[in-house]
Amino acid sequence: MNYENILVAQENGVATVTINRPSKLNALNKATIQELHEAFKALHEDAETKVIIITGSGEKAFVAGADIAEFADFSVERGAELARNGQEILFSFIENLSTPVIAAVNGFALGGGLELAMASHFRVASDNAKMGLPEVSLGVIPGYGGTQRLPQLVGKGRAMEMVMTAGMISAEDALSYGLVNHVTSQEELLPLANKIAGKIMRNSSVAIGHAIKCINDNYIDGVNGYQTEITQFGVCFGTEDFKEGTTAFLEKRKADFPGK
Ligand code: COA
Repeated sequence: MNYENILVAQENGVATVTINRPSKLNALNKATIQELHEAFKALHEDAETKVIIITGSGEKAFVAGADIAEFADFSVERGAELARNGQEILFSFIENLSTPVIAAVNGFALGGGLELAMASHFRVASDNAKMGLPEVSLGVIPGYGGTQRLPQLVGKGRAMEMVMTAGMISAEDALSYGLVNHVTSQEELLPLANKIAGKIMRNSSVAIGHAIKCINDNYIDGVNGYQTEITQFGVCFGTEDFKEGTTAFLEKRKADFPGK
């Protein structure tokens, strides 16, 4: 499929999606959000793709936010619709994918950019990365899940401070906050993300999908994640991956998971 604002490359089970609007610091306009949805959906449906890495093109930015030029004149209704649509088609969509998504944060991750990284299953960053939710400096608040996912990741007090000050934190601070899992040089960022993807791919993709659901359910009000875990644990026993994984262990060989 041809996209205007993103690039998609696939190699050895890992798909790399690159947001490619470097002259606008990869800001997320409506078209880019739609293309990302289509790309993630297609990659999720592609049995060959085991892990998705999302990053930004150029050396300066992952994503510098939602495209401010696009919403500056919106009404109350259109503002709410912007947030609702974005959350549905991209941010919650990514969070709930059973295919693992790693954000490789290679520079500014601001506003919708940090929200995109936070909707991904986990994050790695280059040492030049700068992260923040600057929305209140524009008279608005984060609308793509930032007020919910930031406190989940860094705790309420740090989230409050980051949102209220609209400031940016360094990669090093993001690491100490638990917002990113690893920090490395810009050259080493994609190799590191690919290395982690390689470790993930050795395991059962079916089991990983169930585990993602259980972990996500921990953060949904009114849903008992322990009950989800019991159900999903049971479901695993009916999969070919479970048969292969346990048989391979007992036969003292490496598992070759069929992904079913
Ligand atoms: N939406 C639309 N365009 C954006 C953008 C955004 N979120 N972020 C950057 N751009 C555009 C700039 O308008 C500029 O375009 P131009 O060359 O046509 O004027 C281009 O990207 C380069 O940005 P510039 O501001 O010149 O780069 P800089 O290095 O001086 O500053 C930032 C970098 C990230 C500090 C600055 O671009 C910025 O503050 N961006 C907005 C961040 C933000 O508030 N995001 C939350 C949105 S809700």
